[in-house]
Amino acid sequence: MKIDGKDFRTIWLGDDGWSVEIIDQTKLPHRFETTRLTTVEEAGRAILTMQVRGAPLIGATAAFGMALAMRADPSDASLEHSIEFLAKQRPTAVNLRWALNEMRKTLAPLSPAEREAAAYKRAVDNCDEDVETCRRIGEHGLEIIQNIASGKAPGEPVNILTHCNAGWIACVDWGTATSPIYQAHNLGINVHVWVDETRPRNQGAALTAYELGAHGVPHSIIVDNAGGHLMQHGQVDLCIVGTDRVSANGDVANKIGTYLKALAAHDNDVPFFVALPYTTIDWELDDGMKIPIEERGQDEVLAMTGRLEDGSVVTVDIAAPGSSAANPAFDVTPARLVTAFITERGVVAADATALKEMYEEAV
Ligand code: MRU
Repeated sequence: MKIDGKDFRTIWLGDDGWSVEIIDQTKLPHRFETTRLTTVEEAGRAILTMQVRGAPLIGATAAFGMALAMRADPSDASLEHSIEFLAKQRPTAVNLRWALNEMRKTLAPLSPAEREAAAYKRAVDNCDEDVETCRRIGEHGLEIIQNIASGKAPGEPVNILTHCNAGWIACVDWGTATSPIYQAHNLGINVHVWVDETRPRNQGAALTAYELGAHGVPHSIIVDNAGGHLMQHGQVDLCIVGTDRVSANGDVANKIGTYLKALAAHDNDVPFFVALPYTTIDWELDDGMKIPIEERGQDEVLAMTGRLEDGSVVTVDIAAPGSSAANPAFDVTPARLVTAFITERGVVAADATALKEMYEEAV
């Protein structure tokens, strides 16, 4: 996608052919900055500190982290140690484990001398695959938006609510939840997006709004608590969210607050879609309640960062002094509240049987 008219992905190989460039998401939306990763430790830190975030991008960064590790030391011990180190940076998005398993499958059978080149190739291929997967998710989601648009009066927008950032900034390009939206917008379909601000880190207000704005997609930021009200008043045609992990029975872990949106959607007969690549399905878990939920620091709840008129970025305390806070970063939406999954293979019911039929070879 484009930033100021220039094509970007979220992660790419540097001009030197070995270092890894990322967009530093902790600086958005106030500043667009890229940063260079040169070691596996820096890749791990980028994941932990959320310079990169979003399930597919976490996986893509881990794959490049393995390439950097193999460049420094391609031994068996380094391979296993690096996988273990990267895997523990964030617990919920299963794409991280998926990417590291892929790297192990590729690298373990090779001699140490062959590993560096193979790791870079797999990391780059992984990015290309992710772009194509997200593009196809968009094609399938587009049909859903087209159907709704065909029932609208001329000029009336299709109103789509999304939570957190499951956009191109969370993947390598296109996004999962946003891919159908971009494809509809590119075809001239009148779409308007309700962007949940997504406290406490504001991925909606900071990132989704940023990327939709850069692409010219009409949108409005809403506070996280506004969605139910808008649904009650017929102002949401459908919800599309992303996910960090789907258990084999179709339960969905996603950014905290997703469950409440799904409940409100269910109560108001608003279709609730979850867009995902196959790399987000955890076939080893049969129940979403077993998905590990990341607990983040209380500072994210008790303080907020923003831009002053002079352009400087500051963090301020917003809570009563002395109060503590809890900060679960994800929740689980039961499959029964999900209308369907939008995957790269098509739209599929959120249940164990349908998922297994669609991904027969993976189970
Ligand atoms: O904590 P984050 O910002 O990494 O959480 C991101 C989300 O919850 C996304 O919705 C999810 O990873 C899907 S990204 C396509």
